[in-house]
Amino acid sequence: MNQTTQGSRLEIQGVNKFFGDFCALENIDLTIEPGELVCFLGPSGCGKTTLLRIIAGLEQQSAGQLSQGDVDISLKPPRDRDFGIVFQSYALFPNMTVSDNIAYGLRSIGMAKARIRSRVDELLTVIGLEDHARKYPAQLSGGQQQRVALARALAPSPGLLLLDEPLSALDAQVRHHLRSEIRNLQKQLGVTTIMVTHDQEEALAMADRVVVMNNGVIEQVGTPLEIYQQPASAFVASFIGAMNFIDSAAVNGQRVRVGSRELELVRPMPESQDCVRLAIRPEDVHLLPAGDGDWEGQVESMDYLGAFIRTHIRLADLERLLVVDVDPRSARQLNLANGASVCLQLPSDALHCFAA
Ligand SMILES: Nc1ncnc2c1ncn2[C@@H]1O[C@H](COP(=O)(O)OP(=O)(O)OP(=O)(O)O)[C@@H](O)[C@H]1O
Ligand SMILES: [Mg+2]
Repeated sequence: MNQTTQGSRLEIQGVNKFFGDFCALENIDLTIEPGELVCFLGPSGCGKTTLLRIIAGLEQQSAGQLSQGDVDISLKPPRDRDFGIVFQSYALFPNMTVSDNIAYGLRSIGMAKARIRSRVDELLTVIGLEDHARKYPAQLSGGQQQRVALARALAPSPGLLLLDEPLSALDAQVRHHLRSEIRNLQKQLGVTTIMVTHDQEEALAMADRVVVMNNGVIEQVGTPLEIYQQPASAFVASFIGAMNFIDSAAVNGQRVRVGSRELELVRPMPESQDCVRLAIRPEDVHLLPAGDGDWEGQVESMDYLGAFIRTHIRLADLERLLVVDVDPRSARQLNLANGASVCLQLPSDALHCFAA
């Protein structure tokens, strides 16, 4: 598409939301830069949709301010805010054709007929549904309907695109495909975009930055890499990717005791804590032949997951299972099999630590 949408900066300051006594959002501060794609990620009920609806003006915050570009939108009704929105379930008008659905927002701003037609044609090409212009929503697949919903939201060239789990009703293959379509389209148009999802893979694959939410608060904001490699809390560490947690006792600011051993830490320890929760990703644990490493263990199960093998290893010292991912080649070299004895190492620089 030759026409680019002007993205605008969104600023959210001190937003709270109460439903009666229930605090659904607490002190939300967030800035979204022009042209960014940001995902709100978190478990069901953490407040993602509520925050998105507040940004759209479909819900009124209990406290706090919002601005878009340089305009304070805190009290503006939805029609005076500059956004397009797509919901989880295809909220197309069932009695209108694909073309008319896409044209809907353009008619309501009084655009001339000829311009509407060319804009609709342009969008139909973008979403690859040129041949379906005269169909009704019920005659389209789920993925096609969501493409139409996307085109309808983008038609008036909004400064902000809001997507609330737009892919979650689709099957895996269509979801993967539409994921990259949305991302490409978003980049091409430069439209500032917020996408709600509870699918971590989707968030990590699509977002410039991820906002991880839990119980109405923002736990961390960062690039997918930052969120994965430097989780700011035990919640983020456990919610994104797989993680082993091991309880330990602080010896000093740099060392902890685990079972009968002491471990040196590289990352800073949480302050004034006697107990520290260590965390390590399954791919960061080193497996070694029996007798060669710090910790002895026994393979309890092996799951072949294609590119790697997810093993469960019972540590003799700790009476607990550790999840360890091994590539198939190393597994062969180690003669890894159920019941086999192995040793493992927990590299200091891979250990995260959180308050217990
Ligand atoms: N209108 C409402 N009245 C009362 N409580 C509400 C209302 N809307 C949302 N809530 C509550 O606020 C919390 C956050 O809801 P929200 O819909 O924002 O969650 P979510 O993160 O989008 O979850 P999901 O992933 O399931 O869509 C939930 O506990 C929900 O029950
Ligand atoms: Mg929701």
